[in-house]
Amino acid sequence: ETNAQVEAILSKLTLEEKAGQLNLVDFGGELNESHYQLVREGKIGSVLKSNGAAQNLKLQKIAVEESRAGVPILFQEDVIHGYRTITPIPMAEAASWDLPAIRKSAQVAAREAAAGGIQLTYAPMVDVSRDPRWGRILEAAGEDPYLGSLIAAARVKGFQESGTDKQNILSTVKHFAGYGASLAGRDYNIQDISERELREVHLPPFKAAIDAGVAALMVAYTTYDGVPLTASEFMLDDLLLGELGYEGLIMTDWETIPNMTEIGVAASDTDSTVMAINNHIHMDMQSKKYLELLPQLVREGKVSEQVVDDAVRQVLLLKQKAGLLDDPLGRFEPEVEKAELLSKENIAAAKDIALKSMVLLKNDGVLPLAETNKKVAVIGPFAKADRDLIGWWPGLGLAEEVVTIYDGLQKEFGDKAELSFAPGVSIDKFNKSGAELIPEAVALAKESDAVVMVLGEEYWMSGEGGGTASLHLPGLQETLLQEVAKTGKPIVTVIVAGRPYVLTDVEKHSNAILMAWMPGTTGGTAVAEILSGKFNPQGKLPMTFPYHQGQVPIFYSYKLTSHSFFPEDKDDRYSTTYRDVPHEPLYPFGYGLSYTEYKYGEVKLSSSSMSTNSSLKASIEVTNSGDVAGREIVQLYLHDKVASVTQPMKLLKDFTILDLQPGETKTASFTITPDKLAYIGRDHKYTIDPGDFILFIGSSSAELKQTEFKLTK
Ligand code: IFM
Repeated sequence: ETNAQVEAILSKLTLEEKAGQLNLVDFGGELNESHYQLVREGKIGSVLKSNGAAQNLKLQKIAVEESRAGVPILFQEDVIHGYRTITPIPMAEAASWDLPAIRKSAQVAAREAAAGGIQLTYAPMVDVSRDPRWGRILEAAGEDPYLGSLIAAARVKGFQESGTDKQNILSTVKHFAGYGASLAGRDYNIQDISERELREVHLPPFKAAIDAGVAALMVAYTTYDGVPLTASEFMLDDLLLGELGYEGLIMTDWETIPNMTEIGVAASDTDSTVMAINNHIHMDMQSKKYLELLPQLVREGKVSEQVVDDAVRQVLLLKQKAGLLDDPLGRFEPEVEKAELLSKENIAAAKDIALKSMVLLKNDGVLPLAETNKKVAVIGPFAKADRDLIGWWPGLGLAEEVVTIYDGLQKEFGDKAELSFAPGVSIDKFNKSGAELIPEAVALAKESDAVVMVLGEEYWMSGEGGGTASLHLPGLQETLLQEVAKTGKPIVTVIVAGRPYVLTDVEKHSNAILMAWMPGTTGGTAVAEILSGKFNPQGKLPMTFPYHQGQVPIFYSYKLTSHSFFPEDKDDRYSTTYRDVPHEPLYPFGYGLSYTEYKYGEVKLSSSSMSTNSSLKASIEVTNSGDVAGREIVQLYLHDKVASVTQPMKLLKDFTILDLQPGETKTASFTITPDKLAYIGRDHKYTIDPGDFILFIGSSSAELKQTEFKLTK
């Protein structure tokens, strides 16, 4: 089916202008005449890192009114967790398991970005990773493909279709695919995964984003089976366009076209350009190779004009979807921008998801902080941090707009408590420095009734390029905690970080631990409302927290092996475990405490068997046996007992969220449909075998009630 508007524009473009449409460049920093001139010459199809309704309107006017073909620019940006109102990092939001709240958060980001003159974001990142050393994990949804898929779809819909046309932005799913398997957690590293792992772990969230209608897709920096994703026939032709049925735009990551020359899979940039355009790469981020080389390559007959036209069609289609072809100037309204950024509603949505994202990891009863704690020492290098709370890729968020944890506590506790502060140590890169600050902190703790320790990592330590070899809190923070703990005062430790850290020592010296992640603009308020008990924590970990860093990669969905580990035979030497540390992680996937307790009944099934064209109901009663209201995330896992390839000992297949008043019992109900029993067979296709399944329901991947059922033909 031809698109008349797109075809009409395409037919007017010269070869040079077509190449210009495929060119996406960074306009960060101050704009000057050279930028405007490039636009005038029709060399800029899309721009990244240019923000603000007024600034982008100026560029757009030049594109539309002064360039020969008058095609509007598509403004793009890394709107990863908010644009100006910064929401928690995506990994934190994943801990909420709350799809409507996650969608709402993406909607807020979209509304603000759209008002700021942006039409496309490079989100969601859906790379599944099991390595907390990898800095980029903060941008994704954790270790599980099922949870990751639901979140991918919620975020795509949040960006693309939750507001009015003018409030939505286009979404880009990234990085296709397998980037999360970068070896040893080093960013951009080699990865060499099997097709099975690719299909079981890495592809499902891409499929979910595509099924949710994502408009664009970014390829990864990495390779699959030795071939860069920017030119992989198998990944792009066979899987993406073929099996997954993707029809949208495909863009490179930063300069990944000339990168193919650097890594020696192309002899020259000419060759890498030919490889990319012939492999359906429609948009070139930053390298300008398409702009500089494509027209000549077409003239020489090395690239067909048809292929270039197809790429231009994709770009124009995005511009059409963004409403730019009908109304190129109507989306840049400084008054709308002013009203939208940091609006009350946006701040409220950010706080809502910040509260829901935090995970209570330990509590011996010290939380919520009792009013008898009159003097509270707030200690640690992150107690007054602002920039670190908005993490990597903070959009246009400003440090001075962030509520620090100290300020949040002060506001929440008012004159009910007297707060004092000491940094305790300083964070000097990864060096152990600032020991001279420890005595002051200890003295302060001694004079107090309770201590809130705020420990963690600085914003630059995670995110792109933010790999870490050590999973212990940077610098002398563990020493500080040990010294403060010697005072015997009750200690509540709040962790500000973009990744799971090894908290084994922190756990020993803390009475309670709250994982606050990098919680965004309203982070301090959210932490304070949890510590005071105004909000009952409900988050559950989307990624395993190791007991020891040598356990990495560690995740819950291990497959059976010839020598599987079973807790009951933990002294069996011949099982796949370590001899020097426990087998289990410190905190498992799906784990998170509450200020109340939930008691689980037994799993009930509507029948002990189902067939491949019927379904089964599984349910369990959950009682709030404590004395405050709470929200419990009830999780369902399955294990297929006999299949043609080895299966995970358990795999998340569903979850539901229950609101429970004190003393209240509710039934969590699930429907087991045949698709939940399918797995990827020896032929790499989804298959479903009759046989026995174990069904688990519970509060985390490690605390489960179980039963069995049979699948018949
Ligand atoms: O969106 C990012 C991508 O995730 C990593 N490289 C740069 C892009 C644009 O900033």
